[in-house]
Amino acid sequence: MKLRATARALVAEGKGILAVDESTSTCNKRFAAHGIEGSEPMRRAFRDLLLCAPGLNEYISGAILYDETLRQSVEDGRPFVEAMNECGIFPGIKVDTGLVPLAGAPEEQVTQGLDGLRERIRDYFKIGARFTKWRAVFVIGVTSPSAAAIRANVHALARYAALAQEGGLVPIVEPEVLMDGSHVIEASRRAHERVLQALFEELAVFGVARDAMILKCSMVLAGSGAAEQPPVDRVAAETLAVLGRCVPPDVAGIAFLSGGQSDELATRHLDAINRRAPDAPWPLTFSYGRALQQAALGIWGGKSSNVPAARRALLERASENAAASRGRYLEPAVV
Ligand code: G3H
Repeated sequence: MKLRATARALVAEGKGILAVDESTSTCNKRFAAHGIEGSEPMRRAFRDLLLCAPGLNEYISGAILYDETLRQSVEDGRPFVEAMNECGIFPGIKVDTGLVPLAGAPEEQVTQGLDGLRERIRDYFKIGARFTKWRAVFVIGVTSPSAAAIRANVHALARYAALAQEGGLVPIVEPEVLMDGSHVIEASRRAHERVLQALFEELAVFGVARDAMILKCSMVLAGSGAAEQPPVDRVAAETLAVLGRCVPPDVAGIAFLSGGQSDELATRHLDAINRRAPDAPWPLTFSYGRALQQAALGIWGGKSSNVPAARRALLERASENAAASRGRYLEPAVV
């Protein structure tokens, strides 16, 4: 019962999830692009800037953290988990341990992290996490995603989700079809269909309660290097068609990743999806990383004097995406 209530709260109307679960190396890479030192105190400071932005809880229901952050504290000494609970933001934790090349298909990847997962989930629950995330990635190419990549990854996702529910954490199940490449939108549609169909079959085999899980998926897009980019409405229509065919109606909610789209486009796509499907069986919201953080990171630049301006940028992105989750992002202002 508790799991279902948490899942519903994570996708409550007008709210979405903030992904702050970059591994140390990914975080340091993003810092380096802005000339920011990649150290533990700097990573803590940036996560503090994000997670303790006053008013964030108006738009954000939960934040996915990386192991390091879950064990760190805010400036005043309270653990992040405590500070988040105080303002009503659920602490979540990424539990996969990353990607390795798939044997026999080295251009594809499989996600690791099942060994010892039951014990890690137990520890994370004790520390205060209430939901969790595992990400699998699928590339679109001439022969990919291959049947092997799909089978290996959906199997791991299903075993992870079952372990998470057993341990009291709501699983966010994330199959990401990457937008890298020059493929047309139809190729993305086919890849999403194959992946999502296989995923829900496997989740059923492992007895995962769909009303106590959240699907975090990519949108159906043309490749980022494609000659032509489809209009926003086409992306919305294709995404909804795939979800309608592959995602059972009792899934607690769907929270999209941004996957390298520009901030603005990620918001416009979410808005168009919600405008087209006001009566969709699931809440359709966001679980963005880059599309929420990018602007704030650039403004911060590692300087504490820039924290207020960076927080304003974060809140703007969060409120715009919250509006998009209601299909109200592009509504003309009432005068
Ligand atoms: O796993 C991916 C993150 O949780 C979402 O990040 O919105 O930057 O793709 P993104």
